[in-house]
Amino acid sequence: MRPVIIDTDPGIDDAIAILFALNHPGLEVLTLTTVAGNIGLDRTTWNAGRLAAFMGRDVPVHPGAARPLRSDAINEERIHGDDGLGGVAFPAPRIPASDVGATEAMADLLDRHPERSITVLTLGPLTNLAQLITQAPQAASRIGAVVSMGGAVHEPGNVGDRAEFNIVWDAHAADIVFRAGLDLTLVPLDTTRKFRADKAYLAALRRTGQKAAIASADLIAAYQDQKNMAGHSRPLHDPCVPMLITAPGVFDVQQMNLSVDTETGAIRSGECPLKVSMGLDAEAARQVLLRGLS
Ligand code: BDR
Ligand code: CA
Repeated sequence: MRPVIIDTDPGIDDAIAILFALNHPGLEVLTLTTVAGNIGLDRTTWNAGRLAAFMGRDVPVHPGAARPLRSDAINEERIHGDDGLGGVAFPAPRIPASDVGATEAMADLLDRHPERSITVLTLGPLTNLAQLITQAPQAASRIGAVVSMGGAVHEPGNVGDRAEFNIVWDAHAADIVFRAGLDLTLVPLDTTRKFRADKAYLAALRRTGQKAAIASADLIAAYQDQKNMAGHSRPLHDPCVPMLITAPGVFDVQQMNLSVDTETGAIRSGECPLKVSMGLDAEAARQVLLRGLS
């Protein structure tokens, strides 16, 4: 089993990614670390605990950053509902969130596990990972790989002409992460916008009869409703991240040199060598997600 830390701001699409990861026999989810983003930190932390409880798991949840490194928080309630999970019913957490913060928890896990054995999956703003890099560089150097949903390379942004939410929320943190020399694979909108769920896919999820798949269908339906887009297909951003490490053949990963414009949050050509997923086989990806949630 591949040990992973999931850093997240659940968030409807985060929730589907977490359900997929918790259900996957090839992944050992060591912890969920939380960050504000789609909604405030208290809520993202509570939601992470609810998702673990739903899957019957006592995965520790460590709260991280409540705001970006240098600015005030913005949130996305209009997309993710006022509870962050579109009003879909999940149980209360089985265990309380930890008193140990996200950065400290990540550092501890990285120190205790064999060097480069842990993969960090980030589904939200990069504030926690940036703090790990600046506050515990020795532990950060023990990370095996990072896979992050964020950015828009050739695609238009979703919170501005060129800017994507996770990067723009804390562009300074993204800049630190890009420059850290980690084995970082970015999964930008160029990939995630091609991975969509429509009505027929929701029906296929429900037909499995499996609880993670049915809950995901409910989450996607809520996601469609939030923008009065009932019945329309919606992109599934964050599930691409755990899928990329469990089904790498589905993704078109290229080597690119990029950087972050810390003023606008846009991604541009630059000096940081990264792996970037620029596309995917959408039908194969939908099958991977369906199987993973079943
Ligand atoms: C990203 O922003 C959030 O709203 C989603 O959860 C995803 O991580 C997409 O831009
Ligand atoms: Ca997210």
